[in-house]
Amino acid sequence: MVERSDRIAIMNKQDAAKKVFLRSFGCQMNARDSEVVKGLVLAEGYGLTDDPAAADIVLFNTCSVRQHAEDRVWSAIGNIAKMGVKRGTAPKYRGKAAPAPKKIIGVIGCMAQNYKEGIFKKAPAVDIVCGPSEIDNIALYLDEVIRSKKNVLAVSEKKRKEDVYHTGFYEAKDHAYVVISEGCDNYCTYCVVPYVRGRLRHRAASEIIKETEHAVRAGIVNITLLGQNVNAYKCQVSSIKCQVDFQDLLKKVSQVKGLKSLSFLTSHPKDTTNELFEVMRDTPVIKKCLHMPVQSGSDKMLKAMNRGYTVKKYHQLVDQYRGLVYNGQLSTDVIVGFPGETEEDFGATKKLLKSVCFDSAYIFKYSPRLNTEAALLADDVPKEVKERRHAELLGLQKEISRKKVSSCKCQVSGEKDEI
Ligand code: 5AD
Ligand code: SF4
Repeated sequence: MVERSDRIAIMNKQDAAKKVFLRSFGCQMNARDSEVVKGLVLAEGYGLTDDPAAADIVLFNTCSVRQHAEDRVWSAIGNIAKMGVKRGTAPKYRGKAAPAPKKIIGVIGCMAQNYKEGIFKKAPAVDIVCGPSEIDNIALYLDEVIRSKKNVLAVSEKKRKEDVYHTGFYEAKDHAYVVISEGCDNYCTYCVVPYVRGRLRHRAASEIIKETEHAVRAGIVNITLLGQNVNAYKCQVSSIKCQVDFQDLLKKVSQVKGLKSLSFLTSHPKDTTNELFEVMRDTPVIKKCLHMPVQSGSDKMLKAMNRGYTVKKYHQLVDQYRGLVYNGQLSTDVIVGFPGETEEDFGATKKLLKSVCFDSAYIFKYSPRLNTEAALLADDVPKEVKERRHAELLGLQKEISRKKVSSCKCQVSGEKDEI
């Protein structure tokens, strides 16, 4: 490891102008992590570019949530690897321009944690593998690779340093995501997140408020609080010996002077309560939008997915929400083709979609993920059946959404099949 003073010296000599291109895959959490990384490398004197060809360093902030997301990353790495030639390995070039030097390639985020050194084996052009919990040290790892020309592997499950959230770098001028918790403790049987992002860790309410205040002061007046399951938020305030829950946090953040709108993502039905709906109803600055993934309309599937609620409970929550929050918008996620899903189970999901009448829904085909409990089950719904069910639900939801005139701009969508 290089000390900070050494790093600055190295940078001043040779690296001050090195340009970083960062491509982000996946969800909003990743989009925010990408901003964190950009803020950190800028603070260390690197430049940013939107053109991968012009970059010295290419970073991929990756997603492991479905196979499709990973496939896109592997192919993007392949394309960048073709762009440059390792020093000393360039073929003779008579009179032609010298080939571009090989770019430093970093794989950060969920795939880094999922595959660890396996990434170097599968993609030898990669120089850095850096898991989500290690991105606070990204500038250090870049320096190390530049200096030593050796690969760097950094994966852990530690809590990030709080400073990473305070670089002040946000892509948008009028909207910011503010992370309230890292990781997830729910262990839905299909989901890789607890394995790649680790156990649930909460940021202190005071830090969340501080970040929001800074953003608002900088003119970014629309804020979305972000966590895999925001409703599980808990923060111990030692000075007053009491716990701040998600409702308390919403009330506190909503008081930030100058804030125009406050939203939040994602709500898990098992932790969502009437109190949340009351706070939404009573706090004008909170957007009347709820993203509450249901995943399936079959109790058998919900149990197999370890979701912790029944269809009846979900319906009750929706009724309470609509009863309390006037004109509240509702969106959801659904998985089709989970192991053991029969036509009857699928029919129950269609029925649920029709009866709940979501403003929008994101429909996914089940994709087995490394380490998850469901990966031990036979992936027994044939591909064609998954595709047919996926298309059917997309069509159904399209009809429902068309009939409803939705004004919900909850900014839920990452790289999803929204309708
Ligand atoms: N296969 C398909 N979809 C998945 N999701 C999470 N894991 C998987 C998987 N293994 C979906 C869920 C979740 C959304 C972010 O992605 O619907 O709510
Ligand atoms: Fe993808 Fe999930 Fe990681 Fe987000 S948290 S990047 S959706 S695997």
